[in-house]
Amino acid sequence: MSDAEELLRLLLVEDSELDAELLLDRLEADGLRFTARRVDTESGYVEALAAFAPGVVISDLAMPEFSGYRALELARERAPGLPFLFVSGAMGEEAAIDALRRGATDYVLKQNLARLPSAVRRALKEADERRAREQAEAELLRVQRYESLALLASGLSHDLRNVLQPIAMGVSMLRVAADDEVRRIGALIEESTQRGLDIVDSMLSFARGSRAAAHRLQVGAVLDGLAMLLRGSLPRNVQLEIDPPPPATEIEGNATELQQALLNFCLNGAQAMPAGGTLRVRAEERQLGAAFFASGEPVRPGRYLRIAVSDTGHGMTAAVRERLFTAFFTTKEAGTGLGLMSCRRIIANHGGLIRVDSSPGSGSTFSAYLPMPAATPDAPLSVPLGSGHGERVLIVIERESKLVMLRDLVEANGYAVTAVDNGTLALQAIERDGLPDIVLMDARMTLMTGVRTASRLLEMDYRGPLLLIAGPERVSIQGDLPPLPRIRFIDRPVDPHELLRVLAEESALEQA
Ligand SMILES: Nc1ncnc2c1ncn2[C@@H]1O[C@H](COP(=O)(O)OP(=O)(O)OP(=O)(O)O)[C@@H](O)[C@H]1O
Ligand SMILES: [Mg+2]
Repeated sequence: MSDAEELLRLLLVEDSELDAELLLDRLEADGLRFTARRVDTESGYVEALAAFAPGVVISDLAMPEFSGYRALELARERAPGLPFLFVSGAMGEEAAIDALRRGATDYVLKQNLARLPSAVRRALKEADERRAREQAEAELLRVQRYESLALLASGLSHDLRNVLQPIAMGVSMLRVAADDEVRRIGALIEESTQRGLDIVDSMLSFARGSRAAAHRLQVGAVLDGLAMLLRGSLPRNVQLEIDPPPPATEIEGNATELQQALLNFCLNGAQAMPAGGTLRVRAEERQLGAAFFASGEPVRPGRYLRIAVSDTGHGMTAAVRERLFTAFFTTKEAGTGLGLMSCRRIIANHGGLIRVDSSPGSGSTFSAYLPMPAATPDAPLSVPLGSGHGERVLIVIERESKLVMLRDLVEANGYAVTAVDNGTLALQAIERDGLPDIVLMDARMTLMTGVRTASRLLEMDYRGPLLLIAGPERVSIQGDLPPLPRIRFIDRPVDPHELLRVLAEESALEQA
């Protein structure tokens, strides 16, 4: 910022050159630094309000060609928060009160100009404070808006899950249909439904502020999935080019979320090329040094996967680039302005960073840098205790948030998890996938469904462990439970280490 920009911009409404000079001298003598402009007509004043953009107005009351009251009225119309002071030789008490009532910030008598500097300072300070307050209020509104969005998202995802789950269940029956064509269509619907369910989960985890489940991902497979999604949605005049990384390249993350982020970048790119062009997705390994990180970013040098999405579209101005990631910022008629915000959340959740290269007319490149797992096998999410080896665990818990949390935990530790939130779905899952190796169930479920699930397990000759999460009520339910051979209780609230230890023990027994 240059010096001139920092100076107070002072607009004087005064017909007497001499009075104006007296007044400015007084302010200067008091140490105020400013740049001033004097006007004494309405047209000059209106023009200066817009073009000079004053930080304060000091106005005489009566002038041959203009009136102070009119100046005040115009200021209130055009710049409501602008400090406006009257300086007048002839201001009776009544006129002064009237001026304040009409919205003037203060008034000073010409005979008492010594008071002017402090009056100006006070007016500026009050204006600053009001601005800060308004900003805080706007920020609060924004936060509230996010919160209600999060609420909406969790409500919607809950309802969507209820819609999708039965479809997934029904469609899985088509898989065993006799007709080839029916089986093929069934597989397609099933895949889309599963994707829908994954998105619902990721929405839920976003709304709750928790992390979606992370796995080791083959980057090539993630990009294949992306290409499949894009093929259906890119206009014909947009050419898609994908440069995958070397075949075995892996990262740690959530495939659905990453695909969602890349899809957002790609759709933006396509939308920036209304006349067509090339959309390129390129993945490559990069070594990042400390210098790469901007101030305010955690400095984590190391091996990263760079996935760059480039378009040959209209690019963007510096002004657009600055606001890209702000919620609701959009330059499109039908845009929500939430796409890039969601990209940033997803990449940040993966411990990554985004960089943008663009200028008007020369296309844009959005690069996501994702940390690559170290060569050592200790992935950050795995708890050292209890590592599974793909044992199939069926988790039945009615409280959805618990269910998602435990599913993520168990899954991240190497078990193949099916998670359902009621007994009926549990039985359907068993019907569909066969008996699991381990069942983890909340004892507090509506007792009937819990007991019925357990009885059905017994009927189906399930010999594996039934782990029941229970508090003190375990004493009272023990009598109701069917005589399954391996029932174990796990204390509520569940201690993750304890749960993983029991799972490891039980699956070791299973192996024996
Ligand atoms: N590849 C790009 N080229 C040019 N401008 C872009 C590009 N990507 C994003 N922008 C600019 O950033 C703005 C915000 O993008 P964002 O994805 O967050 O919302 P949107 O695309 O406007 O709306 P929505 O994602 O809901 O369709 C866009 O409106 C556009 O001005
Ligand atoms: Mg977008």
